[in-house]
Amino acid sequence: MRATAVAQPNIALIKYWGKRDVTRNLPAVGSLSITLADLFTSMQIDLDRTAACDELTVNGIADSDMLPRLSACLDRVIGTDRAHARIVSRCNFPVAAGLASSASAFAAATVAAAAAAGKQYDPDRLASLAGQASGSAARSLYGGFVELRNTDDDIAVSTVLPASDWPLVVVVAITESGPKAVGSTAAMEISRKTSPFYASWVAQQDADLTVARNALQQRDFDKLADIAEHNCLKMHSVMWASRPPLVYWNAATMRCMETVRELRRAGCGVFFTIDAGPQVKAVCLPEHAPRVKDALSATIGVQDVTTTGLGDGARLVAQE
Ligand code: DP6
Repeated sequence: MRATAVAQPNIALIKYWGKRDVTRNLPAVGSLSITLADLFTSMQIDLDRTAACDELTVNGIADSDMLPRLSACLDRVIGTDRAHARIVSRCNFPVAAGLASSASAFAAATVAAAAAAGKQYDPDRLASLAGQASGSAARSLYGGFVELRNTDDDIAVSTVLPASDWPLVVVVAITESGPKAVGSTAAMEISRKTSPFYASWVAQQDADLTVARNALQQRDFDKLADIAEHNCLKMHSVMWASRPPLVYWNAATMRCMETVRELRRAGCGVFFTIDAGPQVKAVCLPEHAPRVKDALSATIGVQDVTTTGLGDGARLVAQE
C-alpha cells in the first residue's frame, strides 16, 4: 500500500534541548513552537513485499544518511515484520541546516507510514511515535502555536492557539546552506553530560513555558519576544559551555541578531530565535514583515531570506 503525507517544519519559541530518556527519545523539558506555512516536506511511502530493502530518495537523489532513522521510524509505526518501503521525500528548503527539516520529515513519515500500513493511532500515540523519531517532529503534527508537555512516562502535544488567532509571520535569514557540524541528537547528549548550565536550564523551563503561554493568551507580543529571546540565548549558553563547545552561529548570525535588535529599538514588532544551526528566524507582527525582510536581506552575510506565515499540522494527502 502507498500513502503520502505533507508536514511543515516548526520553530520552537521555548526550546527543547536535552533528553530524559535517550532510548525512548523523551525530552528533558517541555517546549512551545510555531508551525510554519510555506516550507514543506512531502513523504511518499510505498510498502512493497517484493522490495529487497528500504530505499530513500530526497528531492530525486538517493540518500543513505537519513535512511536508518527513517527505517527505524517505520519499524516503530508499522512493526518490524513490515514490507520494505520505497520512500520518496521532497523538501523545498535546505535539509539539516537548522531549519527543522527532521521535524517535518519525521512528522510526514509517521503519518504516511501509519496510513500505508492501514494503522489507526490516537493523537497521543502518533505524537509519541513521531517524537521517538525526532523530538521536535511531534510538534509538526499540529498547526499554529503548539505545546509539547512531558507526561509521567511519555509526551502529549496539542495546539494551544490556532494560527488564525494570532497570525504572526516568520522571516528566515539563511546565512549558510550546508549541513550542520554536530546533529542535535548527539549535541544534546554532549550538553547533558558536560554543560555546567544544563541542570538550571532544565529547572527553569516550566517557568519560561508559563510566561510564554500567558503571552499567547494575552496576545502580548513584547512579553513573548522577551521570553523567546531569553530562552533561545539560554539554550545557546548551555551549548557554548558544553565540552566540546557547540557553537552553531557564524558572523552573519550575529549580524542578523543585531539587525533584529535595531528594528525592535525602532519600534518594530520583531524578535529572533536560533536553533542548532546558523540561520536566524525573525518572528514578527504581520504589518512589520516587509520591513524585517528588507533589513535582513540587507544584512551582510545573508544568502537568502524566506518569509512565511503560520500553518497547519501534518496531513495525509494521498492513500492508494
Ligand atoms: C534546537 O528534534 O532535532 O531545534 O529529538 O534528537 O531528533 P532529536 O532532536 P531535534 O532537536 C531540536 C532542537 C532545537 C530546539 C527545538 O526545536 O525545540
